[in-house]
Amino acid sequence: MARVGPKRNRILAFIFATFVVALALYFFLYFEQDLRNYLASRMGARARAEDSLINIPKLILFSLLAFLGVRALNTIIFDFVFRLRRGYEAPTLVRNIFSLVAFTILFLLIFNRIYTEVNLGALFTTSAIFGVIIGLALQDTLGNFFSGISLHADRPFQVGDVIVVGQQKHTGIVEGITWRAIKIRTFQNHVVLVSNSNAAKEAIEVCPRENLNARIVFFGTLYTDSPAKTIHVVREAVRDADNVSPKITPIVRIRNLGESSIDWEIKYWLEDYAKYNDTDALVRQRIWYALRRSGLTFAYPTRTIQLERKVSPKPVTAEEQIADRLSAVDIFSPLSPEELQKLAAATVGHVFAPGETLIRAGDEGSSMFVVHNGRVQVQVTENGRPRPVAVLSEGDFFGEMALFTGEPRTANVLAIEETEVLEIGHVAMKHLFETNPDLAESISWTIAERRASLAAGSQQLAQASIEESAGLLSSIKRFFGLR
Ligand code: CMP
Repeated sequence: MARVGPKRNRILAFIFATFVVALALYFFLYFEQDLRNYLASRMGARARAEDSLINIPKLILFSLLAFLGVRALNTIIFDFVFRLRRGYEAPTLVRNIFSLVAFTILFLLIFNRIYTEVNLGALFTTSAIFGVIIGLALQDTLGNFFSGISLHADRPFQVGDVIVVGQQKHTGIVEGITWRAIKIRTFQNHVVLVSNSNAAKEAIEVCPRENLNARIVFFGTLYTDSPAKTIHVVREAVRDADNVSPKITPIVRIRNLGESSIDWEIKYWLEDYAKYNDTDALVRQRIWYALRRSGLTFAYPTRTIQLERKVSPKPVTAEEQIADRLSAVDIFSPLSPEELQKLAAATVGHVFAPGETLIRAGDEGSSMFVVHNGRVQVQVTENGRPRPVAVLSEGDFFGEMALFTGEPRTANVLAIEETEVLEIGHVAMKHLFETNPDLAESISWTIAERRASLAAGSQQLAQASIEESAGLLSSIKRFFGLR
C-alpha cells in the first residue's frame, strides 16, 4: 500500500508533463509560419539565423516528446507486458539499453527531418578521430556496459542469490546488476559494488536461491567414542533443526583421524542459504547438546590432556536435588524419603536445547520424564499443523501414558527453552508399584484426564476417554504384572 501513493504521483506528473510539451509543440507549429514571417521581416538578409531560432526550439520540443514517449513505451513493455508474461521484473540494464537505443533512433529521425541538409551518416563515418576519442574516454565505461550485457544474456545468477565474487571474496546477496556494477549486500549489511568488467574476468561462486545449497560444519570427538553412535546421534540432532532441509538427510562422516581427535564433518542442506551463518551456529549448538546427552565428548586440542583424562560423563545434578524435585511431583508425594532416594538413584538426567523434540507421537516408549528445569510444550498434529495441548514446567511429568499402557506415544513433546528432564524407566516404576499399590490409581486418573484433554473438541471422544479410565487401572496393573 505504501508504494501506491508515489507511483500514482509519478504517473500524474508524467501525464501532466506530456500534456504541457504536446501543447507547447502544438502552439509552436501553429504559429511557426507567422513566426518565420515576423523574423524574416525583422532580420532581412540573415535568413540562416532566423532558421536556427525556429529549428532549435522545434528540435528540443520534439526530442522532449520523444523522450516522454520512450518512457511510456518502456513502462508499458517492461512493467506490464514483461512482468505479466514472465512473472518477474525486467533487469534495469535491459530497460536502460532499450530506452537509450529507442531515444537515439528517434532523435536522429527528428534531427534529420528538421535539418535535412545535414548528412548524419557522412558525419559519423568520416569522423574517425571523433570515434577514437570517444572510444578512449569511455574505455572502462563501455567495458562495464558490455560486460553487464553479457552478464544479463548469460544469467549466471539472479537477484536474491548469494554469490562470492572478486579477489577479496565478497560474499552477499545480489541486489541488482546495473550498467556499471553488480550490487551485493553483504552479511554485515554493507553494500559492495563489483564492476561488471572485473566480475566478468573472475570466477564467481553462485549459490542460487532455488537450489538446495549445502554447508559443512566441523567438530571433533574423542577416540574412545563410538563412530557409529556419533553418526546416529549427530544426524538425528541436526536433521530437524530450523532451516535444515528435510529433503536430504544430513551426512555425518569422518574427515580425518587427527592427532588428538576423530575429526568429523557434517554436511547439511539449507532451505534458505542466505541464513547460513545462523544455521551453522544452530547446528553446532545441536551437536553440543546431543553429544552431552549421549555421553559423547568433544576432543580438546591438547593431546596430553586427552590421553590422561578418564572420560566419565558427570551426572547432570546431584542425587539429593533430584530426590527433592521428585518429592514435589504430586504422584510421588506418598513415597517415603528412602523410596524417593532410591527412585532418584534410578533416574537419568538429559538436557535438551530449545526447539528439540523429546518425544515424538507414535513412537514406542518405555520411560516417563519429570521436568527438572525449563519448560516443554505438549502438542498434537491436526490436519498437518501442530496444536499445543499443554505447557509443562518444573515438577510436571510426561510420557507416562505410553509407559503405563504400553501404547504408542500420544503426542509430541518439545522443549520451549533449555530443559533438563529426569528419565524414569519401566523397572524403577514396577518396583514402586509393588511397594505402593495406590500409585497406580493416582496415575490412572492423570492419564484419563490427559486423554480427555487430547480428545478436546470432540465431545464424544472426551466422554469415551473418561469412561475408559475405569479400565485403565486394570490395564496398567496387567501391563506391570501387578495383582
Ligand atoms: P505419552 O503418550 O507417553 O507421550 C506424550 C505425552 O504427552 C503423554 O504421554 C503425556 O504425558 C503428555 N500429554 C498428553 N496429553 C496431555 C495433556 N492434555 N496435558 C498434559 N500432558 C499431556
